[in-house]
Amino acid sequence: MKKLLSLFTFITMFTLAQSQETPVIQIETNNSVLVLKVGKDQKLYQCYLGTKLTGNTSYDVLSKENTRSFVINDGNPIVNLRHLVYPTFGTDNLFEPAIRMTHNDGNPSLELIYVSYQTIKKDDNISETIIKLKDPQYPVDVTLHYRAFNNENVIEQWSEIQHQEKNPVMLYNYASSMLHFDADHYWLTQFHGDWAKEVRMQESELTSGTKVIDSKLGARADMYQTPMFFLALNDKASENSGELVAGTIAWSGNFRLAFELDNKNSLRISSGINPFASEYSLPSGKTFTTPTFIYTFSNTGKGQASRNLHAWARKYGIKDGEKPRLTLLNNWETTYFNFDEKKLADMFVDAKTLGVDMFLLDDGWFGNKYPRSGDKSGLGDWQSTKTKLPNGLGFLMKQAETTGTKFGIWIEPEMVNPKSELYENHPDWVLKLPNRPENYYRTQLVLDLCNPAVQDFVFKVVDDIMQTGSGVSFFKWDCNRMMTSAYSTYLKNQQSHLFIEYTNGLYKVLDRIKAKYPNLPMMLCSGGGGRTDYGFLRYFTEFWASDDTDPVNRVYIQWGYSQFFPSFSICNHVTSWGKQSIKFKTDVAMMGKLGFDINVKDLKENELKYVQLAVANYKRLSPVIWQGDMYRLISPSEDSRAVVMYTDAVKSKAVLFSYTLHPMYDPLYAPVRLQGLDAKKMYKVEEINLMPGARRSLEESGNSYTGDFLMNVGLRVSASSNETSVVLEITEI
Ligand code: DGJ
Repeated sequence: MKKLLSLFTFITMFTLAQSQETPVIQIETNNSVLVLKVGKDQKLYQCYLGTKLTGNTSYDVLSKENTRSFVINDGNPIVNLRHLVYPTFGTDNLFEPAIRMTHNDGNPSLELIYVSYQTIKKDDNISETIIKLKDPQYPVDVTLHYRAFNNENVIEQWSEIQHQEKNPVMLYNYASSMLHFDADHYWLTQFHGDWAKEVRMQESELTSGTKVIDSKLGARADMYQTPMFFLALNDKASENSGELVAGTIAWSGNFRLAFELDNKNSLRISSGINPFASEYSLPSGKTFTTPTFIYTFSNTGKGQASRNLHAWARKYGIKDGEKPRLTLLNNWETTYFNFDEKKLADMFVDAKTLGVDMFLLDDGWFGNKYPRSGDKSGLGDWQSTKTKLPNGLGFLMKQAETTGTKFGIWIEPEMVNPKSELYENHPDWVLKLPNRPENYYRTQLVLDLCNPAVQDFVFKVVDDIMQTGSGVSFFKWDCNRMMTSAYSTYLKNQQSHLFIEYTNGLYKVLDRIKAKYPNLPMMLCSGGGGRTDYGFLRYFTEFWASDDTDPVNRVYIQWGYSQFFPSFSICNHVTSWGKQSIKFKTDVAMMGKLGFDINVKDLKENELKYVQLAVANYKRLSPVIWQGDMYRLISPSEDSRAVVMYTDAVKSKAVLFSYTLHPMYDPLYAPVRLQGLDAKKMYKVEEINLMPGARRSLEESGNSYTGDFLMNVGLRVSASSNETSVVLEITEI
């Protein structure tokens, strides 16, 4: 007898007998609903995705209406295939398929009819709907999963494909989801970039045909396109108005998001692993599980969509999303590869002087036969360099501890320099084509994570460091190249599995690390932000947003990431990039997870005092910045400044950041209306983060106002000079 289900868990099971009324399946959150309906032909259709309607009867009407509209009344009714929930290929579907396969007998078609569904209430907040489909002729089953998060208004959707044919079937398409929309116009916001130019937002109206956002880079997959989008219906959505879906795929390899606008102006969005060069031979009885597609529907603009995703990410999407993060001092831009024990010991003290939690030792600490004195050698040889660090890592860990700072370390364990002992000993562990020259990028090659021996090696890189001395408190896990000339000796004649198995192999390693070191925070880095997705963030507490740390550029980059990721996951460091004041740089970095990568000794006395004050303020206010609701008040793409605020759950504390970028002479800034406060409460507004002896920018600092006033009249929160900033602490009194 299986364990009794917990008090909160119950199962409703509906199995459809062919003769019964075809069911309507509702996948609901507090504010939105996805309605599916089994048609008379036993196939599964989407009737609706949008604002939740009142009363169940509405859904019945809706599904009936829609079923009628499927029928083309030409005397010989046929079902319109446009809204199939998981469209197949090979019979009568004329559009993008979710799934395509070839059977053992060579038949290239698939049909999927409805079998059953069940909704399992996992707890007070989460329910999971599982829908079974099968081919009427071939032993192929597809199971669709929908996990609905009520309070966050987020749905996670994925699919499982299985068959019982004698030999493997070949899969050519295997989408996570297919969603359908009917609107007059569709506005797509995408996020594209490159090294040091991450997540630039572009909005355009979709025209007929298929628009594809994808990656073929294998590793560092998000370098040019990030797997996330907003799709606004009818009119462009703004921060506080408009209907839109925000979607992202939790996959860290090649992904594909396709937007197909058809001849009837219906839009279908297909999401999943990019099937490009990745046909997959699936053995009998094995399950192919797609990554999850995560989405939220908002009828009050992009701001609410972001808040939904942030709330979901905090609780469910990011490792330790509700736990505090470590502020840090990193040595990369101060020393690059040029450091020794003495320099590091000084920097431990610097970290303490700033008041941050940790010192993070970056690239350059390893390699002996081929020391890592630049990016051309040593990668793969994860033993500390004796000439640089004669007493080893354990000694550094102890020294940091004595100084009173935590110690974190950089690794790039998926990569190897040809000039390394690892490469000399295991040339077959590298992805490289036979009969062609090796193809380098930053003088390095990618290790073959499809190979379990390589997976063990990568796990051991982390494990060995953790087993040295007292271990480290933090890892920065870097990845500085994409795949080119990719071929796995291990995969032999199944090279089309490479992109998928690499990512799965990496997940296996990360699973092992998480199991053995569950409380170990890790930063995901990829030569800047080439890896930013919710597949990885199950294992990582945060990510490095960009190597571009010029604070003006950073405002835009951080703005872009904030659309999908909560502030505590976006690592922002104060560096020597840009000529702006230390105040401006620090205030910009404080809107996310604050760190420093500066030579503390270069700071003037008043600058150091300012930074110490700002770090102390940040520590006091980080619960609001990290866990609060974010309101983007003024966008840098629409104005010469940016204003953002965070409010805690009970609306008693808020923090506002205002950045003036490049205004024309004497800008006329109207008062900015705040958001997310309680209209009835009284708040004291105080300007903080002032340089020692500096005058306040906000004359009203120290005054008290009702939430009503702050939200309807507002405050003139912006200074008028170029590259200046104002930080306000708003406290209920
Ligand atoms: C790229 C990262 O983005 C940098 O922060 C730094 O860690 C270098 N790699 C080290 O090689």
